[in-house]
Amino acid sequence: MPEMDFWNSRYLEKNTGWDLGRVSPPFVHLVESGKIAPYSTVLIPGAGRGWEAIYLGRMGFGVTCVDFAPEAIAAARLQSEKEGVKVTFIQEDLFLLDPEKHGVFDYLLEQTCFCAIDPDRRADYVRMAVRMIRPGGELVGLFYVHGREGGPPWTTTAEEVRGLFKRDFDFLEFAITEHSVESRRGEEILARLRRRP
Ligand SMILES: C[S@@+](CC[C@H](N)C(=O)[O-])C[C@H]1O[C@@H](n2cnc3c(N)ncnc32)[C@H](O)[C@@H]1O
Repeated sequence: MPEMDFWNSRYLEKNTGWDLGRVSPPFVHLVESGKIAPYSTVLIPGAGRGWEAIYLGRMGFGVTCVDFAPEAIAAARLQSEKEGVKVTFIQEDLFLLDPEKHGVFDYLLEQTCFCAIDPDRRADYVRMAVRMIRPGGELVGLFYVHGREGGPPWTTTAEEVRGLFKRDFDFLEFAITEHSVESRRGEEILARLRRRP
């Protein structure tokens, strides 16, 4: 599968400029502000080396990490074992996630996955989110609105995200966050979108 090979070789070559090496700060802020119900289940598609997963796992959430790149899953698994944090790992194409097989989740956490997939597949991403989040559950995430040509990371806009999600989700929060890392400051929309029943 060419997309999987592309991403897996980025890990093999250690060409992973997107990787913060730690949880993205807006999520820490969100958890500390009490906006994510404790001990909930969280699905993280395109989880990479799993920094968000390990952080949330340590905080007592039931986290499932999905990535189709074996090198990403191996690195995340190793790190979680090193830190003694329980996380469930699924090596799978996120577009093939199936609630009957993988369960449904209270939350889906979006962190540099939406910007990594082919922009033509964004409607498929939304369908995956609708399938995998329980009614009343939430997508919490960062949408990268850097506005530059090319990708990945492929830019999006507030209008595009609203257009894609508005049929199935209520927008609880949707604004540029102040808590981004310096290199992404002013370019990330923090979204909390509640899946309609
Ligand atoms: C830009 S990286 C971000 C990784 C991680 N979220 C982070 O912030 O460090 C995108 C990740 O999505 C994964 N990915 C891309 N398309 C995918 C797909 N269709 N199914 C599963 N994983 C995918 C890649 O393997 C890669 O690990």
